[in-house]
Amino acid sequence: MCNLKKSFTTESGGIIPIQAAKHHEKHRDELLKEALKQTNLKLNDIDFIAYSAGPGLGPCLRAGKEFVEQLKLPFIEVNHCIAHLEVTKIVTKAKDPVLLYTSGANTQIIAYDGGKYRIFGETLDQGVGNFLDSFARYIGLGFPGGPKIGKLAESSNNYIELPYSVKGMDISFTGMLTKLKQLYDSKKYKTEDLAYSLQETSFAMLLEVAERAMAHCNKKELALGGGVACNSRLKEMAKIMTKERNAKCFIPENEFLVDNAAMIALTGYLMYKKGTKPKKSNPKIYPYQRTDQVKVDWD
Ligand code: FE2
Repeated sequence: MCNLKKSFTTESGGIIPIQAAKHHEKHRDELLKEALKQTNLKLNDIDFIAYSAGPGLGPCLRAGKEFVEQLKLPFIEVNHCIAHLEVTKIVTKAKDPVLLYTSGANTQIIAYDGGKYRIFGETLDQGVGNFLDSFARYIGLGFPGGPKIGKLAESSNNYIELPYSVKGMDISFTGMLTKLKQLYDSKKYKTEDLAYSLQETSFAMLLEVAERAMAHCNKKELALGGGVACNSRLKEMAKIMTKERNAKCFIPENEFLVDNAAMIALTGYLMYKKGTKPKKSNPKIYPYQRTDQVKVDWD
């Protein structure tokens, strides 16, 4: 298998969709060339390609779609969020987990039920990754800010109380972000302590909802997916929670947690094996497609 990538990063400031799309356009040909070289294949050896059709930033999805048109190969449209979940299941061999899916734009607690991935809880405002990045940007760290917050948090264990916002099965981060900015501006608190408290509070919220979904669905497996799950403290807290419940915790290598090509390819292949026919023309994008809108008939 070959799983190449080129990621868009900035020194300071956040992600700008048009710039990220330009980055995709600039690198897509060289990545394909390198992938063919590494796998010893030619373009006409390939039966079909899978691409991320949604959800996501319109300009970035369009850069992918245009590449599909340029290649003139049959294609299968893959939902990006579901691909995160499928790759976690394939790599970790989890059978029927509750999935805690945490990325920049998405934060959902999902379980498979009746032909769909159903969302049992989710963020009411922003994804936990964007929340981490927003605070990182506010204090002058670049994009992605999550890993830098994680590094800062490692050097503190001084907890400062922050708004803990779980509403039913949903969570919200905006109140905590406002409070963090106020505390930072007051100059009375160390950045490390704020980073530590931010992680402890937001990750506890995520795991509370994940745990309740496990209890409700009577499931004995928790799986993590999405880039925020690369955070070592989130992994540790997930392991503690599952151990206390006598459940299992499945976490793939970071390579399969962050956005990656293999997850799209493997999900496309799963779909193909279960009867999805590759299309020949008119690839589409679905920037707002929700996880529970996709009929999953390949599991
Ligand atoms: Fe993603």
